[in-house]
Amino acid sequence: MIQNSTLKTIFERRSVRKFKSKKISLEAIKTIVRAGQRAPTACRMETYSFILISDNEKRKQIIQKTVSHGPTREFMEEAPIWILICTDFARQIKFLEIQNIKNDFNETSKFMLGIIDAALAAENMVLAAESIGLGSCFVGSIWTAPKLLAEILSLPKNVLPLVLLCIGHPNENPSPRPRWPLKVILHENEYRMPDDESMEEYQTTRENWNVNYPYKLPRELEQKIRKEWIELGFNI
Ligand SMILES: Cc1cc2nc3c(=O)[nH]c(=O)nc-3n(C[C@H](O)[C@H](O)[C@H](O)COP(=O)(O)O)c2cc1C
Repeated sequence: MIQNSTLKTIFERRSVRKFKSKKISLEAIKTIVRAGQRAPTACRMETYSFILISDNEKRKQIIQKTVSHGPTREFMEEAPIWILICTDFARQIKFLEIQNIKNDFNETSKFMLGIIDAALAAENMVLAAESIGLGSCFVGSIWTAPKLLAEILSLPKNVLPLVLLCIGHPNENPSPRPRWPLKVILHENEYRMPDDESMEEYQTTRENWNVNYPYKLPRELEQKIRKEWIELGFNI
């Protein structure tokens, strides 16, 4: 395989869930966020915002009200840096408004562009953190309470919280975790479903994994999230 320093960072990255209490410099944080901004962005709109959450009261409220998974709570409490990754159309809409340009955003483009832009930026941030010796882990469950986050963090309409990125100095050194073999995920010209043997092989790499977590959202919770998305301007 080809090797260089960028690929080394990519291939050695793994989620880190134990952090030292050591602080992280503002310069490091700004570098990570700037790296996020360098990701490709549809129509150069940068439809994202990143909220650094440093206030302990706000952190506590978010943990208590959005995260039930014990081990996730633990590393959230340890992580010195929390960056909430949001899709943000509010800034772009205002930018167009002040130029008297009517915005043509529709629900489909807001959904697709917003999520793709923010996700690409988020991964750049993860890799930037890794490249300067920091560890990180995402927290997905925060998206189950979009309105609560909007209230706590004063998010305007058309800003949607997607995922939280926790960053810190690693206090563990796990190995990179297995992935599907390339022959299974890389298709040429047509999709080919993996054979049973590949499925069984893969299953052996996934011990301790609870298939139900976190996808089994209770029906009422799913309905609540969808309603809140609409109230926040995303009719997804
Ligand atoms: C959208 C998203 C949400 C995630 N949420 C959590 C989480 O709430 N708790 C957690 O421990 N890990 C979380 N993770 C990390 C994944 O579990 C991890 O990336 C996956 O197990 C693969 O491991 P690796 O990152 O070490 O390769 C999340 C990752 C993503 C992309």
